[in-house]
Amino acid sequence: MKLNHSDYKQRNMKIWNEVAPRYHKRWASVSKGPFQSTTKLIELVNINKGNIVLDLACGTGVVTKKIRNKVGNLGYVVGADTSTTAIKIAKKWNGKKSNLDFVNIDAEKFSFLKKFDVVTCQYALFFFPNAQKALKNIRNSLKKSGKIGISVHGSKEKVPFFSSILDSVTQYIPDYVPPGSPNLDRFGTKSALKKEISRAGFSKITVKEFVFHYSPGKFEDYWKNYIKYIATPLKEKLDALEYSEIKGLKQLVKEKTIQYTKKNGEILFPWQVLILTAKY
Ligand SMILES: C[S@@+](CC[C@H](N)C(=O)[O-])C[C@H]1O[C@@H](n2cnc3c(N)ncnc32)[C@H](O)[C@@H]1O
Repeated sequence: MKLNHSDYKQRNMKIWNEVAPRYHKRWASVSKGPFQSTTKLIELVNINKGNIVLDLACGTGVVTKKIRNKVGNLGYVVGADTSTTAIKIAKKWNGKKSNLDFVNIDAEKFSFLKKFDVVTCQYALFFFPNAQKALKNIRNSLKKSGKIGISVHGSKEKVPFFSSILDSVTQYIPDYVPPGSPNLDRFGTKSALKKEISRAGFSKITVKEFVFHYSPGKFEDYWKNYIKYIATPLKEKLDALEYSEIKGLKQLVKEKTIQYTKKNGEILFPWQVLILTAKY
């Protein structure tokens, strides 16, 4: 069955509610690998003291926290996400502050009474099935002098941490990514990202490319953590495979990691990230 936008968002919200605690611990709260982008994003979008900022799809609040430190007590920051669990973690992790708020909203369906100086969105634009709708909401929430800062992962061949597994799994489980899901690397090139942002009416668009590195340990660690961290709907599909299929799948993944494996057995993946800034 093909998912429509609303089914996809429901499913994705459930997944994020389940994985948010693991995501926070393993990724977001450590500035390693792709998360070196948090500081870069804030630098590039040039947030100033006293700014009013929206961090859209804030997840567990890692970008939000750094923004709040940057705007200081005279500024104001709102972190917004559809996942109630992520927002709970964000609130706890950031602590109570009079100029920091976290709200549950859908990026495709929001409006605020106040207008923002800056809107940031890290690693989420590709999750919005109707990204244009989200971008138009962002633009409507900005002051005329406002700016946006958006980070996305590069296309799949530039992020082998994802593609080594995904390209292999989909050979064994063709509906691992359910039909109707948006393609998560559709904004993974400079031109595709720029085009999408320009279509929504933004100007002065600049995209910078970064290649970070991330070591998931040796192959066995990479594989073990994959099994440990995936959400239930995906785990169920894996569990339905025969033992021999799992063995074949693991071997296929291993082959894809060989080119990134060092002499001591550690894998070191390159990880391309694009960071876009633009004006209203
Ligand atoms: C990879 S996480 C990024 C979180 C955070 N920006 C960070 O850098 O750690 C993606 C986030 O997008 C959120 N998300 C997905 N679809 C959304 C939507 N339609 N509206 C708002 N948030 C959404 C998820 O709940 C998740 O927290």
